Amino acid sequence: MRNETDSKTGMAYVREGKGPLLLLVHGFPLSSAMWSAQLEAFSGKFCVLAPDLPGFGTSPLEDEEITLESLADLLANFLDNVTGGEPVIFLGLSMGGYIGWPFAQRHRDRLRALVQCHTRATADTGVVARGRRQSAIQVLAEGPQKLVGEMLNRMTGPEARFQKPELMERLQAIMSEAAPATIATFQLAMATRADSTGMLPGLDLPVLVVAGEQDHITPPDEMREMADLIPGARYCLIRGAGHMSPMERPEEFNRCVLDFLEGDSLPAQSGVS
Ligand code: MLT
Repeated sequence: MRNETDSKTGMAYVREGKGPLLLLVHGFPLSSAMWSAQLEAFSGKFCVLAPDLPGFGTSPLEDEEITLESLADLLANFLDNVTGGEPVIFLGLSMGGYIGWPFAQRHRDRLRALVQCHTRATADTGVVARGRRQSAIQVLAEGPQKLVGEMLNRMTGPEARFQKPELMERLQAIMSEAAPATIATFQLAMATRADSTGMLPGLDLPVLVVAGEQDHITPPDEMREMADLIPGARYCLIRGAGHMSPMERPEEFNRCVLDFLEGDSLPAQSGVS
């Protein structure tokens, strides 16, 4: 595994394997550390790139004002710097998926396929956006412990919560690394994100939507409805998983993604990184 930093965007990232490019974009408040099982499973066939978004993991937070569009542009810039420019498979989880929509809208030519996991295309409701603003103020004043504790329980299904203490510890450790300023900045970015539902019927690329049976943040029925709006999209439900199926049920998650990537729905690609 190679831990590197892109000197132009300042983003730290992990690169592993050779083959077509697969970009893994983590959720909130996480980091590339959430993808260890995917780096292992996918790097035999793909060149996997897993960046830490600004402020998470070992990437510095340089801009105080961040939007999901600016993050999509930052990732495009990052790909320009660290790859030969060939299109990528974009795989995003939750907040990573929120970034996937503006990425597809603004950088369609860089995309080979989109894998949207535990995410939604709608914007926040007023109540959710207000909750995020309050959470930003609270985290800046008191630190992230309360938010991390609440999210830890909301993000995981019962099997992980009650039977997998090591997984819960690992998830808590990853979330606890995020600084209050980063958490506040990203809460505000998510609270002000646009509704991307209107673009779904016009998406003209292979799309896989991955949902978790026990996910109460992005419920599977809502994800199924979202997938139904995307022409030809494939939908995959991970049984027993909450919001974090790549960590909770890595084997099932990896199989579902590999089945999609190795199927015949993806356009051929000659480039090898
Ligand atoms: C995530 O997993 O990225 C978060 O649950 C996204 C959110 O807070 O909406």
